[in-house]
Amino acid sequence: MATMESLIGLVNRIQRACTALGDYGGGNNALSSLWEALPSVAVVGGQSSGKSSVLESIVGRDFLPRGSGIVTRRPLVLQLHKTEHGTYEYAEFLHLTNKRFTNFSLVRKEIQDETDRITGKNKQISPVPIHLSIFSPNVVDLTLIDLPGLTKVAVEGQPETIAEDIESMVRSYVAKPNCLILAISPANQDIATSDAIKLAKEVDPTGDRTFGVLTKLDLMDKGTNALDVIEGRSYMMQYPWVGIVNRSQADINKNVEMMVARRKEREYFETSPHYGHLANKMGSEYLAKMLSKLLESVIRARIPNIIALINRSIEELERELDQLGRPIAIDAGAKLYNILGMCRAFEKIFKEHLD
Ligand code: GDP
Ligand code: NA
Ligand code: MG
Repeated sequence: MATMESLIGLVNRIQRACTALGDYGGGNNALSSLWEALPSVAVVGGQSSGKSSVLESIVGRDFLPRGSGIVTRRPLVLQLHKTEHGTYEYAEFLHLTNKRFTNFSLVRKEIQDETDRITGKNKQISPVPIHLSIFSPNVVDLTLIDLPGLTKVAVEGQPETIAEDIESMVRSYVAKPNCLILAISPANQDIATSDAIKLAKEVDPTGDRTFGVLTKLDLMDKGTNALDVIEGRSYMMQYPWVGIVNRSQADINKNVEMMVARRKEREYFETSPHYGHLANKMGSEYLAKMLSKLLESVIRARIPNIIALINRSIEELERELDQLGRPIAIDAGAKLYNILGMCRAFEKIFKEHLD
């Protein structure tokens, strides 16, 4: 048998299809509940906590807009596809079909431009996601959603409600019971004040779907370390904390390559007097692999539920098509037929995964 599309890839294809229909399902109720029910991983944290750096490390590429203030102003749904051979890496946006980006600084520019296209230049935020796929031998199959950083203060030109607007947008993602939460906190701040942990605790009080990520371990004051957090004494998590060392601002300014940064991070843990005994469960590569496995198993556990939702969509679509009567309006009918065909194809593939 030909290799089966990964479950993560498959779910992402449905997410993209629903998004392309508009309003996560093109007005089809069952499709929007399907969209809601699909498992995902969302990255949350305060501004400058290291969210973008963690994502870039996971991808092994430098491609996200950066700067001061609120840089991420629309959710970025980032789908990673592991390719088997060679070193050819490229990116594609859902809104620019058939355009392959091999220059990742152009990916950065396109994220910025596409953000501005919807939000205007005056730093508004929008819940409409940007979908980006990256194909590379250096990634694992994984879908991550980058969200605007939680913030306390508006900067000049931003609406006063920006902090609340961001929080409610982030909340709308992480409140979904099937959303895994990657809660990013910097090690050089008191964990009790972490915005990510505060929000995660609210929407996931049992911690069943929250993963604590501690960045900036290298920036802690001399003579201190994060073992109390990482070993669960200051803040107990269901899943073990994962410590991370991203590129510093100086590294970024010097254009230190991501692959070099990954290697340095690994060396940091392997030679660390504090974290050496945990080295194989630390760092961005470990985080990516762990999340990929976990997301896959969460999706697998939800397959019967996903099939049921797809069947509801199919019934709803068939009813709609019946009501249109015959001859059906060409446009409306054709669109419904396409969605119906897509749902049937998805149902078939999910059933194959059950066997
Ligand atoms: P975001 O606002 O949460 O996306 O944060 P960024 O990823 O943009 O990081 C903010 C700043 O912190 C950048 O200058 C990064 O270089 C720096 N930074 C992030 N993580 C680390 C880390 O683990 N160690 C060091 N030294 N700097 C980091
Ligand atoms: Na930032
Ligand atoms: Mg960022």
